[in-house]
This record gives sequence, structure tokens and C-alpha cells, in this order.
Amino acid sequence: GSRVVVAVDGTSGSGKSSTCRGVATRLGLRYLDTGAQFRAITWWLLREGVDVHDAEAVAARCDEAPILSGTDPTGPTIQIDGVDVAVAIRSDEVTRNVSPVSTVSAVRARLLELQRGIIDGGGIVVEGRDIGSVVWPQAEIKLYLTADTEARALRRAAEQGGSDVAATAQVLAERDRIDSGRTTAPLVRADGAVHVDTTPYSLEEVIDLVVGLVLEAG
Ligand code: C5P
Repeated sequence: GSRVVVAVDGTSGSGKSSTCRGVATRLGLRYLDTGAQFRAITWWLLREGVDVHDAEAVAARCDEAPILSGTDPTGPTIQIDGVDVAVAIRSDEVTRNVSPVSTVSAVRARLLELQRGIIDGGGIVVEGRDIGSVVWPQAEIKLYLTADTEARALRRAAEQGGSDVAATAQVLAERDRIDSGRTTAPLVRADGAVHVDTTPYSLEEVIDLVVGLVLEAG
């Protein structure tokens, strides 16, 4: 099979997950959701009663979280202690706390090693914030996906069964602010990444575009 690595970074709610799953499924590639890994560590720390705003406490415990990441684009993507937590890690509590946890360099160091071990060998679509810049800068295809805050909030609120659009926009903007402003591996457009503003496009159109880029690159 193909050994290609497709690195997809971008802002929260820009359609990365749906796009990456779609592309991986169409091309028969594996899929890695690195956001799910940061969420899983956050979920586990909260469950353990660790103060997630105490960077030292987070650093001291983060290596213990028993995370297992799957790479099937159609199946469960993340387990803790052998239990599928794909739904639990999308809770509001995790979503509010994941960006602060992700600023802690011990958390990033642990996940970096895990991520590189999974990506090694290729044939994979990887989504996150620092894939093309830090995790796998040698990726054959790099994308940087964004969308207008309004469009992102509308999609996200719809996914969540009609929650408040303005409040959703505020949470997205706050995560982007922390993710872009941190010292270690901030969200940036990586060197060589193709920027796609997905605002005017349907999911199918974005998937077609990315599939086209991958096929073109051989
Ligand atoms: O992609 P998702 O929105 O699930 O990611 C949740 C959070 O995990 C992001 O807001 C960010 O704080 C963190 N993250 C990160 N680096 C990545 C992927 C996610 O810091 N590569």
C-alpha cells in the first residue's frame, strides 16, 4: 500500500476530523486523530482529580494515562484502560480544559513519541495542530484548514443538536487563542502547507480536493 503521510492542521471546528476520516476511507489509508489523544489525557486527569490548571501536577501525572489510539478511519479512535472513550472526550468539560493541558510540554513530549510511533511506516492521514510543523514535517502532503468563526460555530452548534451559536463561537475562539499563542508547538501554517479556507465548501468538496492533492502527489 501507499506509504504517504498526509498532515492536516488547522483551527478548531474547521472540518478537519470529517475531512480526514473521509479522505482516509476513500484512499484506504489509516487515520490518526491527535486531538483525541490530548482530549483523552485531559479526560483521564480530570477523572483522577488532578488540577488541570496546575502545569506541574499535569506534568507529574500525564505519563500514567493508559491511552491506546486506533487508526481505523471508520472505527473507535481512542481507548483508556481498554474502554472506548471516543464519546466521553467530547464533553464540554474536556473541551473547556484541553487547550490548557495541551500547553504543558511534558504532555506534548509524551504524545509526540506516541504519534511518531504510529505514523512510522506511513499510509496515514494525521490531524492536529502541529503535525506539519513539529510531529511530521517531512509529510508528503500538508494542509492548513480554516473557516470563518461564524461558519464553524454554526456547524458545531448543529452537530451538538442546536446549542447556542454565540457561546459555541466564543469557546472555539478561546481554544484558537490558546492553541496559537502557546510557546511549545503552537498552531501555525507549516512550511509548505496548502491553506484551504473551507467556509464556502461542502464536506464532500473539501474531501474531493484533498483526495485530488494526494493522488496528484503520487
Ligand atoms: O482537534 P481537537 O479539537 O479535538 O483538539 C483538541 C485540542 O487538543 C486542541 O484545541 C488543542 O489544544 C489540542 N491539540 C494540540 N495539538 C494537536 C492536536 C490537538 O495541542 N496536534
